[in-house]
Amino acid sequence: MSLRLGDIAPDFTAETTEGRIQFHSWLGESWGVLFSHPADYTPVCTTELGVTAKLSGEFKKRNVKVIAVSVDDLPSHQGWVKDINETQQCEVNFPIIADADKQVATLYDMIHPNASDKFTVRSVFVIGPDKKIKLTITYPASTGRNFDELLRVIDSLQLTANYSVATPANWKDGQDVVIAPAIKDEDIPQKFPKGHTRIKPYLRTTPQPNK
Ligand code: BEZ
Repeated sequence: MSLRLGDIAPDFTAETTEGRIQFHSWLGESWGVLFSHPADYTPVCTTELGVTAKLSGEFKKRNVKVIAVSVDDLPSHQGWVKDINETQQCEVNFPIIADADKQVATLYDMIHPNASDKFTVRSVFVIGPDKKIKLTITYPASTGRNFDELLRVIDSLQLTANYSVATPANWKDGQDVVIAPAIKDEDIPQKFPKGHTRIKPYLRTTPQPNK
């Protein structure tokens, strides 16, 4: 059965471009992003890994460790990383799992046989410090991911993990948020001292509490 939000992210031990890792202990107290790539030496994946490397400061700022997986072996990954660094003007600074036996791809249901029985789709799993899956997104091989969207979602996940709020459509860090329906009107002033707007009884907004 496929993994669902709130499930514990399956643990595994695997060889990576940065040595052997045990996934849960490698994550430690951090948030994690595990994302799959259909194959090494493919154009879209090359750009995705380059963008991820260039965003390393943004992930670090959010206490997020990033790890990629592709169903190729370590020598293939090592050669490909050189190409990525050269063509994308970056330094790949996160591990890529060598998953030639498809251990991780299978655990995380990244192979969708009706799309391809050989390669993974572009799966993204965001994992919280409690090792639970907070977000999954699946793209087809032909569509490169939007990493600004990934950072935006992580901002929302981290905010909503700590405050009784939710983020509206197209929300970006710094914008007003909506107050969780479970919060009673009378409790709002104490919980949200920056003020609030009551547009409807079920639609109440407040400035982002941690800004
Ligand atoms: C790519 O990463 O460029 C790619 C991989 C598999 C199918 C199509 C594109």
